[in-house]
Amino acid sequence: MEKQRENWGSRIGFVLAAAGSAVGLGNIWRFPYLTGENGGSAFILIYLVFVIFIGISVMIAEFTLGRNSGLATVGAIKSYSDRFTFVGAMGVLSAFLIMGFYPVVGGWALAYILESVTGLYSLTPDGIGDTFGAFITGGVQPVVWMLIFLAMNVLIVAKGIKGGIEKAAKVLMPTLFILLIFIAIRSLTLDGAGEGLAFIFRPDFSEVDGGTFLAALGQAFFSLSLGMGAMITYGSYLSKKENLVENAVIVTGLDVGVALLAGIAMFPAIFAFGMEPAQGPGLVFVVIPMVFAEMGGIGALFGIIFFIALAVAALTSSVSLMEVVVSYLIDQRDVQRKKAVYGTGVVMAIMAVLASLSLGVFGPLPVFNVGVFDLFDILSDKVFLGLGGMFIAIVTGWVVDKEVLRKEITNDGTVGFALFEAWHFLIKWIIPLAVAVVAIFGIIDIEETAVMLFGIAIVALLAVFSRKLH
Ligand code: TRP
Repeated sequence: MEKQRENWGSRIGFVLAAAGSAVGLGNIWRFPYLTGENGGSAFILIYLVFVIFIGISVMIAEFTLGRNSGLATVGAIKSYSDRFTFVGAMGVLSAFLIMGFYPVVGGWALAYILESVTGLYSLTPDGIGDTFGAFITGGVQPVVWMLIFLAMNVLIVAKGIKGGIEKAAKVLMPTLFILLIFIAIRSLTLDGAGEGLAFIFRPDFSEVDGGTFLAALGQAFFSLSLGMGAMITYGSYLSKKENLVENAVIVTGLDVGVALLAGIAMFPAIFAFGMEPAQGPGLVFVVIPMVFAEMGGIGALFGIIFFIALAVAALTSSVSLMEVVVSYLIDQRDVQRKKAVYGTGVVMAIMAVLASLSLGVFGPLPVFNVGVFDLFDILSDKVFLGLGGMFIAIVTGWVVDKEVLRKEITNDGTVGFALFEAWHFLIKWIIPLAVAVVAIFGIIDIEETAVMLFGIAIVALLAVFSRKLH
């Protein structure tokens, strides 16, 4: 009786931790604005196809490699093949790149908790938009909020994830979910909401090109926390009794559910208020306040809860990113946990200060023609995560013995996985090929060719030089 309860408890703990990593700014901030920029429904459809045929399979692969090796990213991959150590190194680099901009947006969410009580919702729609623009380009203020967000990460990762964050997440993640449903209902009942629904549900392929596919693939990996070994690390803590496939399906389902819900909460309102869907990264910070403003006095209360929940969702994701770097330093480099966390935090702070300032004070970089914020974003999710996912698939399909995989996934034959052969075929052949094709067509169509080539050059250098990593 007691044993059963323990299993149950650890099971929920793992699903929550993995879902906590997956569900974050990627779902509520990034998914809606990418959908807006990439023409709506067609983007969503392509994204869903990638999630189902690539995302779930790569997640199963990451869980399997992690649990089978019992090691975090770099060590796990190295334990199968020295030649592929660079895939682990790419993962560590991706974690730095993502943490070069993620805390900036996390800081915006924190700032908006305060904005919610200082009269944001009594402004006109235009005023709400101007407030956001002035805030993120303002220099000092967003930097301070970013540093507060990053400091929270440092505190949590230094102490270990168990304590406060897990408890906060258990309350606030369901709260966020319920709030999104509530906002969706309000949004759907606004005058002119139908147009927004059509935008996300009536496929229009007229604007789809290679760049759309690349954006959808990058978003699938980013949102599911795949392609850099975060899920390998989580899998390494997983009990041998857990059903890997079931866990992957649950985590993916939750993640996609939250993203779609965020879309349904926002697009009807965007069209009802006559806003531009392709306005970029500011979308959630402008539309959601407009919906709250329209509710009158109670809106401020919803605003506070929403932005607290958003900040916590961001935090449960960013700690998993920081943990990838920290666990590498601890496991492979014998660094003490505290030192690893502080050192990593300082580097990430410098990167994120540059990213935040690139939205106002600094202009675009020469050659790349994008700012630091965009540089980190494009490099991580359009280059490193996709190629990382591709190499993780290659290691799983070509290096690891098929029977080892079968035994690990089926818990020594005690749980069934009827689709094992199909999964293995996808991992071995289809996914590496599909990612390569998307990457090639993406490079052709994307405007930021210099950034893409720069990223690929780094991967090539890592592949050549990282064999000596340990
Ligand atoms: N999935 C998170 C989000 O959507 C971000 C994230 C956390 C992530 N860990 C990751 C992305 C590992 C890629 C890899 O907000």
